[in-house]
Amino acid sequence: MNETAALRPARATNGAADLRAFMSVAVRNQGVVGAVAPSSPSLARALTAVVPALGTPVVVELGPGTGSISEAIRRRLPPGARQLAIDVEPSMVAHLRRAKPWLEVIHGDAVELGALLAAAGVTRVDAVVSTLPWSLFPGHRQARILHEIGRVLAPGAAFTTVTYLYAMPLPRSRAFRRRLRSAFEEVLTTGPVWRNLPPGLTYVCRRPVLDV
Ligand SMILES: C[S@@+](CC[C@H](N)C(=O)[O-])C[C@H]1O[C@@H](n2cnc3c(N)ncnc32)[C@H](O)[C@@H]1O
Repeated sequence: MNETAALRPARATNGAADLRAFMSVAVRNQGVVGAVAPSSPSLARALTAVVPALGTPVVVELGPGTGSISEAIRRRLPPGARQLAIDVEPSMVAHLRRAKPWLEVIHGDAVELGALLAAAGVTRVDAVVSTLPWSLFPGHRQARILHEIGRVLAPGAAFTTVTYLYAMPLPRSRAFRRRLRSAFEEVLTTGPVWRNLPPGLTYVCRRPVLDV
């Protein structure tokens, strides 16, 4: 794959519409979106390697945006799986409901993850995949979301997320990495994924520590 192709959003049936929708929200609301373009196929592959390909798993995505990671999750999932996606931005939710009718989209804040999933009849999750903009969140919000994720993960289940390289020196990004290591017994850092705009480091986390 050449560099230009790698920077395109994940292949979707309506990739151009996804890109237009993403850009229109990102320019209006960078303080919530936190990225300049949808994730690339390389980042989507790195984040979704933990998605179970057998059985009847339940997979939750936090911050699906216009769905580039959702498409990659869908490609891995076996028939009978349940795929949910939670986004706080109403335009992203409206786009997803229109463009990806196969996805269970929940409009809400990841900080309420447990309650949102309970309302959808979900108590245990086999993988959580997040592209939330952690460096935009104050510390108490980072901690609360990580705690909520830890509470819903089934034993042995994994949580994956990304931090962008340019943001790594920022105090909130550094605090997030510290918090991640306190919130999970195992945090594997993978990457960097250079073929993404912007490039990022990915994390695969298991065994939540629930008293943080
Ligand atoms: C960096 S974009 C990622 C979009 C898409 N997953 C991708 O990779 O192309 C971050 C997404 O997180 C959503 N978001 C930000 N804060 C959120 C929150 N507290 N709860 C749920 N979604 C949130 C934004 O609306 C946006 O869609």
